[in-house]
Amino acid sequence: MDKKTIDLIDAAISRRKPLRTITNALRLVNGLGDGLPGLVLEQYADHCVIHLFDKRWIAHKEALAEFVETRLGASYLIVKERLAPQALKSEQINASVYIDQAPSRTVVQENALHFGVDLNDGLNSGLFLDMRRNRKIVAGLTKGLRVLNCFAYTCSFGVYARASGASGVINVDISRKCLERGRENYELNQLECAKDEFVRADALTYMKLALKKGNRFGCVILDPPSFARHGGKVFSVKKDFPVLIDAAMKIMESGGVLLAATNFSGFSHQVLKEMVVAGGREKVKSIKQLGQDTDFRGSGRMPESYLAALLVRTK
Ligand SMILES: C[S@@+](CC[C@H](N)C(=O)[O-])C[C@H]1O[C@@H](n2cnc3c(N)ncnc32)[C@H](O)[C@@H]1O
Repeated sequence: MDKKTIDLIDAAISRRKPLRTITNALRLVNGLGDGLPGLVLEQYADHCVIHLFDKRWIAHKEALAEFVETRLGASYLIVKERLAPQALKSEQINASVYIDQAPSRTVVQENALHFGVDLNDGLNSGLFLDMRRNRKIVAGLTKGLRVLNCFAYTCSFGVYARASGASGVINVDISRKCLERGRENYELNQLECAKDEFVRADALTYMKLALKKGNRFGCVILDPPSFARHGGKVFSVKKDFPVLIDAAMKIMESGGVLLAATNFSGFSHQVLKEMVVAGGREKVKSIKQLGQDTDFRGSGRMPESYLAALLVRTK
């Protein structure tokens, strides 16, 4: 790697210093946003992961590993090549471990909460760093509310909401494994789980059932995957988000809060807003645009750093 590249990486790392007061899990290099197209470097405590979205970085893998070891003192490093544009599944990425002085799992801290991550378990770590700021914002509004965390993944929104005084949380995800990791996150934060706090179900089916039973929520979180398959059906955020928004609005208490978010770069904030207005009909009181945290420099300029998120308040 030439000096200019090393200087750019160093500058990117320095820029994130202020965030270290609230977390030890952060994106240190965000591709084009840091003048390094195709390169993403994330740190989770003393574990690191590099995502390569451009083949020009392949020749520099060893040099990047050496840099991470010496500059960041990492005890674990995995490099994930994600060269195919649609490489969303773990079997479509080529992953190589470069530093293995520790297991791939570790625990990180964020705003005084703790989360387990595993850098060698598929594409994602277990904690979506780009939602950090939104976790805090949404949790700050949940005191005393019943929260429905749809597409809960490892339940980080649920942990935040419970720690912020939500009166109850239901985490819904289709994956048993994700919910198990969610349970571990609750334990890491000494949160006692209520009965039915973790529900393995299709999110839309759950919301329809809640409507039928008269269950209402003060806060609903919708952060679906861009694409997913389950039970022979294909979920696509493009096709299915309006239906989800409609269902969420119907089970919302008055004066409630909805977070509608997607990493699908085909959705602008404006498109998402139109969906919310259409799905919410006369119930929408206000809509605020949210995005990624400051370590996602250049957010929205490349698919690997895209998040459209809206905080919707209902009447
Ligand atoms: C983008 S992740 C959600 C991230 C999460 N909101 C967070 O911030 O940590 C998508 C999640 O949706 C789950 N999922 C996919 N299809 C689903 C469905 N039909 N119903 C419920 N969960 C589903 C996946 O298992 C995955 O955990």
